[in-house]
Amino acid sequence: MLLAQRKALVTGSSRGIGRAIALALAREGADVVIHYRRQQAEAEAVGAEVEALGRRALVVPAELESAGEVEKLFDVVRESWGALDIFVANAAASAFKPVLELKPYHLERTYRLLVENFVLSVQKAVPLMEGRPGRIITISGHGVHFTLPRYANIAAAKGAIETLTRYLAHELGPQQITVNAIAPGVIATDSEQFYMGDKLAAFDAACGRATPLGRVGRPEDVADVAVFLASDWSRFVTGQVIVVDGGLTLTSGPFVEVLGH
Ligand SMILES: NC(=O)c1ccc[n+]([C@@H]2O[C@H](COP(=O)([O-])OP(=O)(O)OC[C@H]3O[C@@H](n4cnc5c(N)ncnc54)[C@H](OP(=O)(O)O)[C@@H]3O)[C@@H](O)[C@H]2O)c1
Repeated sequence: MLLAQRKALVTGSSRGIGRAIALALAREGADVVIHYRRQQAEAEAVGAEVEALGRRALVVPAELESAGEVEKLFDVVRESWGALDIFVANAAASAFKPVLELKPYHLERTYRLLVENFVLSVQKAVPLMEGRPGRIITISGHGVHFTLPRYANIAAAKGAIETLTRYLAHELGPQQITVNAIAPGVIATDSEQFYMGDKLAAFDAACGRATPLGRVGRPEDVADVAVFLASDWSRFVTGQVIVVDGGLTLTSGPFVEVLGH
């Protein structure tokens, strides 16, 4: 197994991509802290799945918009396990609106969760990685380097995460901690459903046509890359953004629509 004896924390692992990452890390031998905000039953079910794989699970709630709750989350990890090898900053939420309709609180909440408290989380995670070849994995997004409808708020925060990923990789390299980002394309989760509403089926079909690998992503497609980044196989990889999108960003809509692949 690639991750035997490792201790991991995956934020937002009650469902979607975070859940798949938590289970994939556990399958490779890691004990996992399952973090959630509201979906307690789902989070406990993920914890039970981790334990059924023979690993330890710790299920911890925290509203990551609150600095105090971020600190409590890491206090629980320190008091329970004393150390951390792998930190996956996955949890995200945002308001999807055109820039001209964004209110100050939309910006504040998104940036507090994804930027300010991400930095705080790393400040809490790094001391727990002392003496270990730590792994920090961030999750960027589709629509950072090009535009998507109503996506500016979260895309700007994810752009900050990509930049912080590079800076942290530089600053933490001497401690043998690697920091890398995964940029998922379109992945079938609750948030895709929320963003697309009643256009989901049409959107999935269009994505299938525009994607060289011919389908929308699954959470497991992202999780397997997270396993690679968490393992020794990626020991000399740091500061990178790995796109996991089946090739969707390689294509240009109208060309594919009219001429095909
Ligand atoms: N799905 C995609 O197509 C896609 C594409 C690009 C990037 N991504 C990124 O991939 C990551 C996971 O996305 P997903 O689609 O799996 O999301 P999701 O299904 O909406 O799940 C979000 C997770 O984050 C937690 N969370 C949300 N807001 C939180 C807060 N304020 N405090 C603490 N926890 C919070 C949720 O906890 P509860 O369950 O308790 O509410 C849940 O576990 C995100 O960073 C997202 O931006 C997704």
